[in-house]
Amino acid sequence: MFARAVIFLGPPGAGKGTQAKLVASRFNVPHLSTGDMLRDNVSRGTELGLLAKPVMERGELVSDALVLRMVEERIARPDCRNGFVFDGFPRTVAQAEALDGILAKQGIGAPAVIYFNVAEDVLMRRLTGRRTCKACGEIYNIYDRPPKVDGRCDADGGELVQRADDKPEVIRERLAAYDRQTKTLVDYYRSQGVLHEVDGAASMEAVTASVFGALSKFEARA
Ligand code: AP5
Repeated sequence: MFARAVIFLGPPGAGKGTQAKLVASRFNVPHLSTGDMLRDNVSRGTELGLLAKPVMERGELVSDALVLRMVEERIARPDCRNGFVFDGFPRTVAQAEALDGILAKQGIGAPAVIYFNVAEDVLMRRLTGRRTCKACGEIYNIYDRPPKVDGRCDADGGELVQRADDKPEVIRERLAAYDRQTKTLVDYYRSQGVLHEVDGAASMEAVTASVFGALSKFEARA
């Protein structure tokens, strides 16, 4: 199907990761979460991880230069030939402009951008309730999507853990960083005619239906 870049844009906790996994799996393309890539570097203690760790712990954005180097290296790999789903990237105008250049250089057309619109009170509940499987990365929520067995992944029994940056004081800073640096990308992509807004506060199934509906419209236009 789909030789293109898809971007999932929205505030922390909007459901980008939850939906990106489904889309990437359906179209058999990589799910590229810059947050996951950075956390992987942190846990392996790489040079990038050592630089990113204190920034992420404060809830701020990692520098554009570091993120762009990581992303450019990742999408040059052969598994990205038929497209990819970005979750949490780009997050600044500088990242978006650099991505435009990278996509043009690689002969990939304009991205399809799905914007998840969700109010802040919903985001706080989602983020404080999130638990993630240490083994497979499956995302749960103790309020809205609890596992069958407390603390264990339904798929593989892996331990469910809370992310270090899902503490209320760090969440507040992440939301402020979104308002300061990322929200402006909604207008950036709307003005390019590639933005599709979904009601991210709806049920997971309803959001999934809206996302796939939006993507098939993009495909019909391509
Ligand atoms: P990152 O990992 O990207 O986190 P984020 O953008 O803050 O987004 P989240 O992963 O918190 O939320 P999500 O929208 O994916 O929601 P999810 O599906 O999990 O970034 C972390 C940090 O890394 C940043 O703060 C920054 O420091 C750094 N970083 C990353 N990328 C960067 C970049 N490009 N530039 C610079 N720095 C960067 O869902 C949340 C919860 O809600 C889950 O429990 C889920 O089960 C539940 N849920 C989802 N959908 C629904 C629904 N419809 N109804 C009910 N519950 C739902």
